[in-house]
Parts: sequence; structure tokens; C-alpha cells
Amino acid sequence: MTTDADLKDVRAWLLAEHHETVDADRLGHVRAELQRIVADGVRGAVVELGCYRGAMTLWMRCVLDACGDDRPIHVYDSFEGLPETTEEDEIVMPSGLFTSSPADLLAVFAAWDRRPPHVHPGWFEDTLAGRLPDRIAFGYLDGDLYASTLVSLTQCVPRLQPGGALIIDDYTDPGARPGAVAPFPGVKAACDAYFGAPSPVETLPGDVAYGRYRRRD
Ligand SMILES: C[S@@+](CC[C@H](N)C(=O)[O-])C[C@H]1O[C@@H](n2cnc3c(N)ncnc32)[C@H](O)[C@@H]1O
Repeated sequence: MTTDADLKDVRAWLLAEHHETVDADRLGHVRAELQRIVADGVRGAVVELGCYRGAMTLWMRCVLDACGDDRPIHVYDSFEGLPETTEEDEIVMPSGLFTSSPADLLAVFAAWDRRPPHVHPGWFEDTLAGRLPDRIAFGYLDGDLYASTLVSLTQCVPRLQPGGALIIDDYTDPGARPGAVAPFPGVKAACDAYFGAPSPVETLPGDVAYGRYRRRD
């Protein structure tokens, strides 16, 4: 059984040891969305596209466990870090940033004695089409770049179940949040390219930016 006290311990550890990629807002948004999905009985898998060392993956497992929900989590990553940026990213990032390994991720799960996710190493462009579950209830999209976000949406949205949701990390909409700094402008550009206007992606509150897409039918 996973209690609120257990979640508090995991949260404190993540904020201390994995603050490079998770923060209190992100953890709160993902927890709330997963709890809603379980409460609403939305069926389908939980997936993370861009899992790095498994910080958010561990959080999602613990939140599901606290809800008494044993559905599997599937995670996807090159484990070779970010690919090359493109013109649409409007920034240049060194390729290979955020390199990790499946062993790094599995060690996090072993340390917390949690059931590990299904790990799908490889570039999204090669893995997602064939290895995503047919039905997705919740997805955490964290590929940082335009092309990575676009292929994530292309493969996840058609699989999203009614009531299901995607949280899109680093989605920054200066129109919704005047003055907001967009560290990864390619993420919103990919959402706009995929969904068109008006965008169904909502901006979530927080110090950094996050977007949420819910399938409402
Ligand atoms: C910011 S990190 C993810 C952090 C993680 N979600 C967390 O909460 O700790 C971004 C990850 O996306 C992966 N990535 C980005 N584009 C990718 C692509 N096209 N294919 C596979 N992995 C990709 C990188 O390897 C990197 O590990």
C-alpha cells in the first residue's frame, strides 16, 4: 500500500535529487491528472516520451500505486540524449544533452522498490509507431524539441482514450502568460503545427510552463 506519507517522501527525494528535470508544479500537475483519470475510470496505458533517468516515471508509478491502480507504464527514450535541434526550435542545444541509460532508470525503481516500467529504448521516430500501446489514458510528453514533440503528438493523440490527457512539458504560450520565457519554443510550435488554431492545449500554472491536452469526447 502506498500512503500519502510515502508520496511525500518520494516527492522530497525527487525535488532534492532530480531538480534538473522535475519541480513541485510538474509533480502536482501530473499527480492531479493521474488521480482524475483513475477516478473517472479512463482506460489505457500510462506512457512517458522522454523519460531520461526516470524521475517522473517513478512519481507516476507511486501516484498510481497510491490510487490502487496497477496499470503498466511504458517509457521511451533514445538514452542518447537530445537529437540535433532544427530551425523550428529557434535555439541550438548540444545533441546528447540528457544522456542516460535504462540501467540508470531501473536503479531508481530498485532503490524505491517499485515495479519498473516497460522500457523502449530508441529514437521516437523508430519506436513509437510500433511500440506504443493501442490505448493511452495518460501521456507525459517531454522530448523538449520540435521534431520530438511533433512525432509524439502524431503517435499519441490518435491513441488517447476519451477523458484521457497529455501533459506537454515546456509548452510555453506567451499569449496566455504574458512575459513568459520559452526555454524550448519548438514545443509550442509543434503543438500549433499538429493541432492548428485555435489550439486545444491549455496552459497550466507554474514557474515553468506546461501544457495539457484533454480528449473531451
Ligand atoms: C528533459 S529530458 C526528460 C526528463 C524526464 N521526463 C524527467 O522527468 O526526468 C528529455 C529526454 O527526451 C529524450 N528525447 C528527446 N527527443 C527524443 C527523440 N526524438 N527520441 C528519443 N528520445 C528523445 C532525451 O534523450 C532526454 O532523455
